[in-house]
Amino acid sequence: MRRIGISTGGGDAPGLNAVIRAVCKTAINEYGYEVFGIRNGLDGLFEPGGVFPLSHEDVRGILPQGGTILGAANRGNPFVRKSTREDGEVVIEDITEKYIDRIKLLGLDALVLIGGDGTLKIAHDLWKHGINVVGVPKTIDNDVGGTDVTFGFDTAVNIASEAFDRLHTTAESHHRVMILELMGRDAGFIALHAGISGGADVILIPEIPFMFEAVCRKVQERIARGSKFSIISVAEGAHPHGGQKVYKRAGDELYVARLGGIGQVVGKFVESICGAETRVTVLGHLQRGGTPTAFDRWLATCFGSEAVRMLAQGKYGRMVALRGRKLTSVKLEEVLAAPKRVDINGDSVQTARALGIVLGDEA
Ligand code: F6P
Repeated sequence: MRRIGISTGGGDAPGLNAVIRAVCKTAINEYGYEVFGIRNGLDGLFEPGGVFPLSHEDVRGILPQGGTILGAANRGNPFVRKSTREDGEVVIEDITEKYIDRIKLLGLDALVLIGGDGTLKIAHDLWKHGINVVGVPKTIDNDVGGTDVTFGFDTAVNIASEAFDRLHTTAESHHRVMILELMGRDAGFIALHAGISGGADVILIPEIPFMFEAVCRKVQERIARGSKFSIISVAEGAHPHGGQKVYKRAGDELYVARLGGIGQVVGKFVESICGAETRVTVLGHLQRGGTPTAFDRWLATCFGSEAVRMLAQGKYGRMVALRGRKLTSVKLEEVLAAPKRVDINGDSVQTARALGIVLGDEA
């Protein structure tokens, strides 16, 4: 092995730059490899200047920086091209081979692909086509299987938790119900962890379909006990029992669907049925921006360094992972087969219930 390529795919997450830095330093210091950055996910493979050498100088000072110096692309599946023929027929074409040829032409002997489930699927596809790939799990959602935690999650939870602190003071002043809608896609980790650390009274997550009545009962109980305000943490993927998730945009062959809007749905109900003045905040991309926490910097650095060791040992088709406090690796196909979700009988859910936090499923 001589030359490795590194790319950051999907939505960004705090800690991406820490991984890039760790990959570069480990690859150059320990193995004498050449490292090439690929811009904008894998789009850079086909862009002028989209694949460029990375040296110590290029990664100096980036450890605390949010975002990614390589740029990211969250467009969906790059291996699929949709075009319309002259007769109007829409054609979906598999262009994976174009990527394989390009990677070979550029002389990249191996790739480190950093991303969530979408990027790890791409990594798996490339590996199946004979490319030497190692995956690094990134996402604020913490929904990647095979690892206890992904980098970016801790930062997102800290930001959300601080948002709850701020909502608390204004909620109390105005005797209002404050709803905070949080990211996480189909997993409720951010809403659950931030809800617990931010002192929420109600936490709604996709893994536990909720009943509006249960939410209302909690709000009214608190009012009856003299607490005229309530704080509700809602994951964007939460949905009522027997009801649907709320989407801003539907998905298709190329793009993943975008969740959003459940906070407003819950807010309208709480105001109209529970009779409590309610405001809804959507924290959105604030959860993804800015400097990573110390934990995420540590995790991202360990992941990046271990990814290079895995390449050197020929552990291709695998993803670096953290189990307990130990680094390990897991086959990409196992990762993809079992995305991670909140364990509804797990410690965090039990803790929430023990504290009287309503999760919406109590009849
Ligand atoms: O996967 C990370 C994430 O931030 C999700 O929590 C959220 O649903 C999605 O990405 C938003 O994507 P975009 O940045 O494309 O709006």
